[in-house]
Amino acid sequence: MARITATRRLPEGGLEPLRAAGHDVIESDDDRVLSAAELADAARNSDALVCLLTDRIDREVLQAGAGRLRVVANVAVGYDNIDVAAANEFGIIVCNTPGVLDETTADLAFLLILAASRLAHDAEDDLRKGRWDGWGIMQYLGRDVHGATIGLVGYGRIGQAVARRARGFDMNVLHHTRNDTGIPGWESNLDRLLESSDIVSLHVPLSDTTRHLIGARELSLMKPTAVLVNTARGPVVDEEALAIALENETVFAAGIDVFEREPRVHPRLLTAPRTVLLPHIGSGSIETRTRMAVVASEGALAVLAGESPTNAVTRVP
Ligand code: GLV
Repeated sequence: MARITATRRLPEGGLEPLRAAGHDVIESDDDRVLSAAELADAARNSDALVCLLTDRIDREVLQAGAGRLRVVANVAVGYDNIDVAAANEFGIIVCNTPGVLDETTADLAFLLILAASRLAHDAEDDLRKGRWDGWGIMQYLGRDVHGATIGLVGYGRIGQAVARRARGFDMNVLHHTRNDTGIPGWESNLDRLLESSDIVSLHVPLSDTTRHLIGARELSLMKPTAVLVNTARGPVVDEEALAIALENETVFAAGIDVFEREPRVHPRLLTAPRTVLLPHIGSGSIETRTRMAVVASEGALAVLAGESPTNAVTRVP
């Protein structure tokens, strides 16, 4: 029987595969983010960690687990919170949750595309605060989504799920990836994609190459009528530069679900006009979050059984 620590509370049934296999599963009962010392302690005393993107699984934590800890299963598709190189070095396998959150995250990206383009937040805010004094032909004039050109930065599973929705809205779909996808709409040059899109939606993982991929220069290439949507990772966008672009009306609107220093949000972004902000809920449906927890648990279970999980992001020794 192995010992598994889940660092925070998970959706009902999420840890069931591990429990059903008879393992000793320790689940947090107060659902707070563990400190670095607590994470290191959990790593030291567990064979598997089931963790979340709010947990910083750095070299120190992994080193504390070295010798006993066999797997870190992240209940997220992104795993920039884990030092994968260090995990490799200590022979600890890292798993994630690919494939189960694409449609839910694409739904949310579309929600932001629509809400930001149609100024839903500003309009609702006025209504709720008693500032709406009746219908007006010039009020809250947004931009059409149907028929617009959408530029997808990154074209993995989530980007492709957004593309499917966009086609249903009669949009012209462009996508940028480093390697040619061979799919119509591929644009090799990010600058050109930014210049020609009415809506830019980000779907790249966070890495050294994508950090601040969209900064002041890139925002200045976008049309003043364009909308930026980020459901990927906060640091892909320079938040201050975006707030300035919104204030100066050099971009039209933004829909943002992820932030550079979560849970903090840049104060200028909080007050920027024509902006819809959500607290990182891209995969947040009951069904999807439950599936994510199950997939992470199954990955951990496979490693504990000496098998090679299909959702490993590291080399399996
Ligand atoms: C959520 O942001 C995830 O990476 O799954």
